[in-house]
Amino acid sequence: MRPPSIALRLALLFSAIAAAVFVAVGAYLYQALWQQMSERDDVALLNKVVLIRHLLASQPMPLAMPEELQMVLDNVFGQDGMQLRLTDAAGRTVVLTPAQDSHAGTPVPSWPAVPLARAPARSDIRDWQLPAGPGRAIAALARAGTAQAPLRIVIVRQRSDRLAILKRYAADLAGGLLAGTLVATVLAFAVVRRGMRPLHDVIGKANDISTQRLASRLSVDDVPAELRELGVAFNAMLDRLEEGVQRLSGFAADLAHDLRTPVNTLMMQTQVALSRPRAGGEYEALLASNVEEYERLARMIENTLFLARADHAQLALRREALDAGRELAQIADYFEMLAEDGGIELRLDARGTVHADPVLLRRAVNNLMANAVRHTPRGGHVDLVAREDGEGMRIDVRNTGTGIAPEHLGQLFERYYRADPARAEGGSSAGLGLAIVRAIMQLHGGMATATSAEGATVFTLHFPPAPRPAPAGAGGGSD
Ligand SMILES: Nc1ncnc2c1ncn2[C@@H]1O[C@H](COP(=O)(O)OP(=O)(O)OP(=O)(O)O)[C@@H](O)[C@H]1O
Ligand SMILES: [Mg+2]
Repeated sequence: MRPPSIALRLALLFSAIAAAVFVAVGAYLYQALWQQMSERDDVALLNKVVLIRHLLASQPMPLAMPEELQMVLDNVFGQDGMQLRLTDAAGRTVVLTPAQDSHAGTPVPSWPAVPLARAPARSDIRDWQLPAGPGRAIAALARAGTAQAPLRIVIVRQRSDRLAILKRYAADLAGGLLAGTLVATVLAFAVVRRGMRPLHDVIGKANDISTQRLASRLSVDDVPAELRELGVAFNAMLDRLEEGVQRLSGFAADLAHDLRTPVNTLMMQTQVALSRPRAGGEYEALLASNVEEYERLARMIENTLFLARADHAQLALRREALDAGRELAQIADYFEMLAEDGGIELRLDARGTVHADPVLLRRAVNNLMANAVRHTPRGGHVDLVAREDGEGMRIDVRNTGTGIAPEHLGQLFERYYRADPARAEGGSSAGLGLAIVRAIMQLHGGMATATSAEGATVFTLHFPPAPRPAPAGAGGGSD
């Protein structure tokens, strides 16, 4: 199942919070109303006791006109669900006011009454269960006129009307809560959706981007802070993609261009040869010339393949500790003849240990040496120097000559880059030698650099020192 949308999730979360707050506030309001009503009812009850005591104190005893008193009391207790029962010392009922819901039949509670000497307090009021529902009641003694025996007052307040109010209030609160939560949910959903609009803009932009239109970028200045980081990361990804696509298409174009030259040469030579019958020797010469072009083509294809495989890190490095003196001496031997032919002095000064794949190391140094020998004028010299320093092994290939202009130095290691266009056409130069050197150094975690000044050009290979042995149990193997 797909996870629900962020908008829905936030809206639900928000409505849950709203509902929780509403319930808490509602409960508080309900409780407050209940408290206030109870308090006011109790105070009214106490006031009635004081009133009756007062009234009785001014009455002669035995009561001269009980009917008149009854009438007055009926008026006082007519409303509010209160009922008064006045009993004399012998327990006979003297006055009993009518009640809305008659509880005349219920037995008079027998709890101790508030003594004459004390004013009634809230703590004297008790809960009393009436047939019609819960009630509050108080019993107090009162003296009528000058009589010795006190009368007993019992006032009962029935609470069912209060409970009805509270019930209605609770129902109102619940309705409000439900409606409020609903409104909050809908509003939250709308607000969140609106808030997410910038995200949809980003999605729209992303949909617009294709390999043909990689130049498009998200504007990160007018998006909310949360999306800015995403936009920046997205743009950085596009930068990398664009660069990669550009390199790839450039690579393809260069490759096609460079394959065209030898293929054209082959085609033209063959067509010319076929244009009329020729002697056997002429065919032989043509084939020999063709072989050269085939070799050049084969080397280009092989080099291109090598670079493609290095790009995908498909080349397995077999790193070994190699004696730099011995390895470089072999290479120097190989170039000795060529150098002699060109009137170039070749000097070797190498010692130390280099941790590298022997085949790749040879290939990298070979490429540098081939360039150096090719670009050194007669009478110049080429130095091959290897030294260990703090950061591993450093191999320099130095040669005299006109050097390389600074504007080319940065690009020499690019594929198909040739500093001297005049030389590039024809000849055996493909412009891949230094690209391969760089790829080899990257595979080794090292680096290749070039400097050129005052008639001397130096290409340097930095090989990192031996990788530290993997800690036991880490499943280390040689790479
Ligand atoms: N020692 C050097 N002195 C002067 N220029 C150099 C030297 N080494 C390289 N270059 C320049 O750098 C360019 C790139 O060299 P790279 O080895 O990549 O290609 P290439 O030698 O032209 O072709 P390939 O090596 O594929 O046969 C060369 O064309 C040349 O202009
Ligand atoms: Mg080269």
